[in-house]
Amino acid sequence: MDKIKVGKSQVETAPLGLGTNKVGGHNLFPNLSESDGLETVRAALESGIQLLDTAYMYGKGRSEELIGEVIADFPRDQVIVADKAAHDFSSGDIVLNNDPQFLKKSVDDALKRLNTDYIDIFYIHFPDENTPKSEAVGALQELREAGKIRAIGVSNFTLEQVKEANQDGYVDIVENYYSLIHRDEEEKLFPYLKDAHISFVPYFPLEKGLLTGKYTKDMTFAENDSRSKDEKFTGKLFQSTMEAVDILRPIAQRHHVDVLQIVLTWYLANPSLTAVIPGARNAGQIPGIVQSAKVELSKEEYDLIDRSFSTL
Ligand SMILES: NC(=O)c1ccc[n+]([C@@H]2O[C@H](COP(=O)([O-])OP(=O)(O)OC[C@H]3O[C@@H](n4cnc5c(N)ncnc54)[C@H](OP(=O)(O)O)[C@@H]3O)[C@@H](O)[C@H]2O)c1
Repeated sequence: MDKIKVGKSQVETAPLGLGTNKVGGHNLFPNLSESDGLETVRAALESGIQLLDTAYMYGKGRSEELIGEVIADFPRDQVIVADKAAHDFSSGDIVLNNDPQFLKKSVDDALKRLNTDYIDIFYIHFPDENTPKSEAVGALQELREAGKIRAIGVSNFTLEQVKEANQDGYVDIVENYYSLIHRDEEEKLFPYLKDAHISFVPYFPLEKGLLTGKYTKDMTFAENDSRSKDEKFTGKLFQSTMEAVDILRPIAQRHHVDVLQIVLTWYLANPSLTAVIPGARNAGQIPGIVQSAKVELSKEEYDLIDRSFSTL
């Protein structure tokens, strides 16, 4: 995979990465196995994946610790660690905090948990209400000058908030929700990012499994399954998503792969995206993810997929 430059920074990464909220993210997902998490990260790095997307919020630092354990066995320059912070648990509640001192302490603490000297990409995970965005990003710029981080990101920021954060031109990358069925950022955010030379990474690229091809129209979910209360897994949106996924099946057959690879390949071919970070629950899911980098869609196939999902 050709490497892609992150914003105006010196960071370069292979575009297919790994999302790690299921690596140690016990506060977000029940019954996670840490040994599965460790094996997932190791399998990803051994398969040539470089970009690991983590956050303090994933297990209150546990995801960072597990990643730190695995990357110690790999040459540091072969791994691109993307990390995030903003959740402040110090009052007993979860409060979003972008205060410069809080961000600086978050980076210092994360470096210890990751057992490394620098973090390649550091995102403000969510905006807070009070801190001027350029002050928060200014703190990250100081951390960059100190060699503790290499690229500056913001996540879950609106277009206006990204503009404010990028007042001094320091922002390299944005990570927001975007998928084949959630295209809100295309109209306004993407043109601004292109003009400002800011990279974009989507989260939820597989829509929590909905776009892997493993679900079909006739499926229903038990009352105690959280998907039975999620409109994406029920009702009209579920039906139309499954109809669009059916359009991918013959394309997948033509390339001798599954729907999941076609979906990931579509993101890799999308000129507005810098990288894609599908999440995996266990090492067994890594080969399927990695296979997507070997598929090449024709322009007709790319456009057909684009059209089929853009009207949902
Ligand atoms: N910045 C933010 O605020 C933010 C928010 C959310 C997520 N993120 C990041 O984005 C990443 C991606 O999001 P996500 O992991 O929540 O969702 P996702 O990538 O849309 O979906 C991940 C799910 O896809 C399924 N999957 C993956 N590989 C598979 C395979 N080979 N075969 C079958 N199924 C497969 C698994 O489902 P099962 O679990 O059913 O096996 C996995 O849990 C996260 O890990 C995290 O790093 C960032």
